[in-house]
Amino acid sequence: MSPPMIAPSILSADFARLAEEANAVKGADWLHVDVMDAHFVPNLTIGLPVVESLLAATDIPMDCHLMIEDPGRWAPPYAEAGAYNVTFHAEATDDPIAVARDIRAAGARAGLSIKPGTPLEPYLEILRNFDTLLVMSVEPGFGGQSFIPEVLSKVRTVRKLVDAGELSILVEIDGGINADTVEQAAEAGVDCFVAGSAVYSAEDPGAAVESLRRQALAASPHLRA
Ligand code: DX5
Ligand code: ZN
Repeated sequence: MSPPMIAPSILSADFARLAEEANAVKGADWLHVDVMDAHFVPNLTIGLPVVESLLAATDIPMDCHLMIEDPGRWAPPYAEAGAYNVTFHAEATDDPIAVARDIRAAGARAGLSIKPGTPLEPYLEILRNFDTLLVMSVEPGFGGQSFIPEVLSKVRTVRKLVDAGELSILVEIDGGINADTVEQAAEAGVDCFVAGSAVYSAEDPGAAVESLRRQALAASPHLRA
């Protein structure tokens, strides 16, 4: 589980065969699970009961991306259930540090996510309370959208701080990652790449994961240094 990491998003999988679909990407570093509540985003997916069943059905560390309101109330149970990383949105809470503390106390790594239009600067000071920064490269809510390259300036800013030893955090990107976009994200300094449609629309999802990882590694200056 060292960068570059690939986290297939099961949002693009067949929800009636989730265990099978999870195990079709056994070489994945994390399994990315998009939890949506139809309030924070205009879409509804799955919640805790399905995540609990999926945790029992696969050994791949689970990366829960909570696109929900009130993460202070709803996020810690995902950590208690056994998710490896639990990420919530900065836009959804007034007290992200408290939510991160509760997620970590419940045994998971804590992630902060920001939408494409949300600036990074107001959150730079609090990033030391997090294990992961999830930079959204599409508007959260749906798979299969086009990558927004402008968000890479946020990746570059955090990469510089990490490389300078001023911050220790994993930089993750989510939205529109595929064979055409993974290299520019890797060049900017991403550690972990979420890919939904690029993995699950491929004939062989496991091979798609390996191919994205190879491309990311070849294009990652921070990993070759
Ligand atoms: C969107 C989700 C993503 C989505 C990415 O709100 O957070 O994880 O599954 O899908 P692709 O890779 O198809 O853009
Ligand atoms: Zn996601």
